[in-house]
Amino acid sequence: MESRPTVDLLVHSASQLLTCSGGPQRGPALGTLGLIEHGAVAIRAGLIVATGSTEELRRSYSASRELSAAGRVVLPGFVDPHTHLVWAGDRAAEFEQRVQGASYLEILEAGGGILSTVRRTRFASLETLLSESRPRLRKMLEHGTTTAEAKTGYGLELEAELRLLHAILALGSEGPVDLVPTFLAAHAVPEGWQPAEYVALICDHMLPALVPWWARTGQGRPLPFVDVFCEVGAFDLELSRRVLECARSLGFPLKIHADEFNPLGAARLAVELEATSADHLLQTPASDLKRLAGSDTVAVALPATPFGLAVPTYAPAQAILRHGGILALGTDLNPGTAWCENMQFVISLACRTMGLSPAQAIAAATINAAAAIGRHERVGSLEPGKEADVLLLSVSDYRQLGYRFGTNLVSTVIKKGQIVVAERTDGLD
Ligand code: NIG
Ligand code: FE
Repeated sequence: MESRPTVDLLVHSASQLLTCSGGPQRGPALGTLGLIEHGAVAIRAGLIVATGSTEELRRSYSASRELSAAGRVVLPGFVDPHTHLVWAGDRAAEFEQRVQGASYLEILEAGGGILSTVRRTRFASLETLLSESRPRLRKMLEHGTTTAEAKTGYGLELEAELRLLHAILALGSEGPVDLVPTFLAAHAVPEGWQPAEYVALICDHMLPALVPWWARTGQGRPLPFVDVFCEVGAFDLELSRRVLECARSLGFPLKIHADEFNPLGAARLAVELEATSADHLLQTPASDLKRLAGSDTVAVALPATPFGLAVPTYAPAQAILRHGGILALGTDLNPGTAWCENMQFVISLACRTMGLSPAQAIAAATINAAAAIGRHERVGSLEPGKEADVLLLSVSDYRQLGYRFGTNLVSTVIKKGQIVVAERTDGLD
């Protein structure tokens, strides 16, 4: 009689199984992959039951279905902790202006940039928002992202911002990518408004209205994050503080676009207000960086953004790590600075521009990225009890991630135990 416990799926014969186990990785611990050679992962009811060597798990479990990784790398699905997934239209014309010398903030000041996407997005129907954003989400999945954060921020008035949130909730429910929503009404100052006036609207009207709306519409999920673009031409430090303090008093978890173009002190503010993450950090002063690294606020680097803007400044990853910080990577997918759905490309950039090893970049794109959206107990590593979000690569050495760029090395994606992207090729690349 069969006495071994049964599992739904056994993924076996991985050349290298990367578990990324043990929780978020601080400072010098970044890059702890928990690598198991000839590895396997056992899955039941969408959750991971065990990881180990193929022999060990074959001995311990009887599987209703087996999937041979056939000498490939197997690792946790990527978590993308910073995207502006939902918008309408594009800004190809601005890209052309920028490569000919116009700066991002100049374009914003002249009423373009974020505001030009707002003009396209604000009156777009839910159906339009879904049909324009769905293909992006599909590409994210095909490139290995199984959980992502998604921000509003192209509505800049309550009704339109709620429509964007609606779109995020609907796309998340469609699956298979899980979406973690963020309310970013403080993304830009809408035309015809003074910054302080608009912040008063956010604090006195939008955020208080969001709480009961979420209770009705949020499908029992925890409150979304609230984020602010703290920047010259958007919201200064004082106004950013006002938005975040108001959000905090209503129980929202916090994020902040910090020091992307100018060092306004937003990383320091993130630490003070115990934000879950501070993102960008291209211009963060050394003393603020040290404070951030000593805190539990995750430092999210978005190297596709300076790449997309063609500027030579990248987040100071080495200083963050030296001071013991929790470093994560994200795409910043958006129509202005970084139309990039691909976390593998972000890993390649991080290795070259921030001096990360492939192992460090992988951990920053999985378990630490999960910490940047408060989901590290559920996703970001292959450990018993966690969701079975698993990637098979078309290569046998994990360092090929980072080394190669511009092609997709993900061959199979498993989300909550289901194969959602099937094998692209037969052999190894
Ligand atoms: O993270 N900086 C603010 N938000 C985005 C850009 C959004 C846009 O340009 O549409 C960013 O880079
Ligand atoms: Fe952003």
